Amino acid sequence: MIALVKTDIIDATPSERSAPWARAFAVVYDPFLYAGERAGVRALRKELLGKARGFTVEVGSGTGLNLPYYPDDLDTLVLTEPDPAMRSRLEKRLRGSDRDAGVVHAPAEQLPFANRSVDTVVSTFAMCTVDAPELALREIVRVLRPDGQLLFLEHVRSHSPRLASWQDRLAGPWRRFARGCRCNRATAALIETCGLTIDDLHEASWRAMPPIVRPLIAGRAQIGTTDA
Ligand SMILES: C[S@@+](CC[C@H](N)C(=O)[O-])C[C@H]1O[C@@H](n2cnc3c(N)ncnc32)[C@H](O)[C@@H]1O
Repeated sequence: MIALVKTDIIDATPSERSAPWARAFAVVYDPFLYAGERAGVRALRKELLGKARGFTVEVGSGTGLNLPYYPDDLDTLVLTEPDPAMRSRLEKRLRGSDRDAGVVHAPAEQLPFANRSVDTVVSTFAMCTVDAPELALREIVRVLRPDGQLLFLEHVRSHSPRLASWQDRLAGPWRRFARGCRCNRATAALIETCGLTIDDLHEASWRAMPPIVRPLIAGRAQIGTTDA
């Protein structure tokens, strides 16, 4: 078993520097989300992460907003984050907590874990931002044990044609503002086409946030029976 503790900070490129907006975005990320977290997302995170078990890997951990909600009895917790500015905030939050976890510099498309080795993968507001979500989801399928689970909380493309059309129209500017985030991505469908089966799905609204990112899905997917 991999036994990372919070002092095991793995950073493949310690000298890497973020562009100015990347650094600024990392600074404003928590304040920008604050109202939405208070208005319900914190509760969604708490409910979702309570289901994590065993060897748990989070993808796109950002500044570490999920940290307080992981169960204490996980075997191992590894937080992956490819962006240096976000990762630096994540490491700071981890140092200030009493949580044992490793931080790994890795994109979700290339996870440094063996096939079928992970019990739980967590993705919260990460599948909107990864450049190649199909690759990332197939990578998650690769690392999950046969009885493993993907726990997700994501903002997604709206069912409403009117709102979806606004999401399409504003996708470009939103993506530039939110560091690669796609506000119009149909993530549930992607999950299901990449070898996972969703067996628990809740829809919610991200209150106190711009309408184009309000439609939320939260739930669990497991390795499907269809060919991945
Ligand atoms: C909107 S933030 C979400 C952060 C955190 N998961 C949360 O719930 O607040 C998206 C995160 O995904 C990260 N990210 C971007 N590209 C990624 C990739 N290819 N693989 C994994 N994470 C990625 C970003 O650096 C950022 O930290």
